[in-house]
Amino acid sequence: MAHAMKFKTRVIHAGVEPDPSYGSIMTPVHLTSTYRQEALGVNKGYEYARVSNPTRTALERNIAALENGTEALAFASGMAAISTLFLLLKSGDHVILSENVYGGTYRVARLVLEPLGLRFSFVDTTDLRNLAAAIEPSTRMVFIETPTNPTMEITDIRTAARLCRRKGLTCVVDNTFATPYLQSPLDLGADIVVHSATKYLNGHSDMLGGVLVLRDRRHRERLRFLQKSVGAVMSPFDAWMCLRGVKTLAVRMERHNANALAVARFLHGHRLVRRVHYPGLREHPQHRLARTQMRGFGGMISFDLGTPARARTFLRRVRLCALAESLGGVETLVSHPASMTHASVPPDLRRKIGVTDGLVRISVGIEDIDDILADLRQALSIR
Ligand SMILES: Cc1ncc(COP(=O)(O)O)c(C=O)c1O
Repeated sequence: MAHAMKFKTRVIHAGVEPDPSYGSIMTPVHLTSTYRQEALGVNKGYEYARVSNPTRTALERNIAALENGTEALAFASGMAAISTLFLLLKSGDHVILSENVYGGTYRVARLVLEPLGLRFSFVDTTDLRNLAAAIEPSTRMVFIETPTNPTMEITDIRTAARLCRRKGLTCVVDNTFATPYLQSPLDLGADIVVHSATKYLNGHSDMLGGVLVLRDRRHRERLRFLQKSVGAVMSPFDAWMCLRGVKTLAVRMERHNANALAVARFLHGHRLVRRVHYPGLREHPQHRLARTQMRGFGGMISFDLGTPARARTFLRRVRLCALAESLGGVETLVSHPASMTHASVPPDLRRKIGVTDGLVRISVGIEDIDDILADLRQALSIR
């Protein structure tokens, strides 16, 4: 039933049933840690809230339907989802990742899991020959982020997934930046989608969450087992917040797309801006590839002001745009990746992946575009 509905209907209705007790249209927040059982082994499908909770179930079913997956699992944060995902592997297994994945993904791989015996290679997946060349007999998983944070590079999901299938590797795509409204990795052949639900899925910068979505049932049992064993689950209240936020995903993304394109064009023409990274610009080196796998280009832009001093001045002068970590909310946020989100990436790798000290990232919100542009214009009137 859910899959027959169009996306803009699914965001509102998928996974959500009127509450059987009173018919409330909105899914209740089931703030309970446990459930009364009728007799030993007789219950209504819920035994303990770390294992499952009806509010979380509703969100999981909703996100699974949006990504055209068979199952979704909700976690306490994007990093909780990613960390639990990597626990599918065992000591000695090898993973290949896009070299400019989110800094937290890099950190958990290099500084937490590598000392435990997993092995990670970070390669430039914009050229899939690098991916093919990095495959070893012990490679088990490929983890792609596209578009990447913060330089908005695009990896060809369809071709990467085909290569993974041929080699028997699990193909994972972090779809946080694009969202299921703009990109459907599972339809392009990926096995698992990762989200920081903290970002666009919730969309209002007021909760923390992560989701894994599965294309088929292959990893389902093991991931459910890991989810309850590790216990980094999404709280019922955060699940409810996300369920509420996701209902407007389609309309928000339309506005994010339009506002970001206008901001990217403005920045592209500005005398102080050396380079703009936005896949919706014709000048983006992978604009054509982006058009084949995305239905819009999202709200994330980064641009290079050339020097750290200029970046610092710009970030001090913005008024409407808030200097803050995170992204994907209704409000416009600006940040400095080199010292914020990517501080744990070593300086030489930062330079290699284009995270220069003059780079500024904008999460373009859904305010009136005139106000966003006016703020950027005044903040950039640096002599
Ligand atoms: C692309 C991407 N993946 C994963 C994460 C981690 O998510 P969370 O902050 O919810 O743990 C982030 C956070 O910024 C992100 O941008």
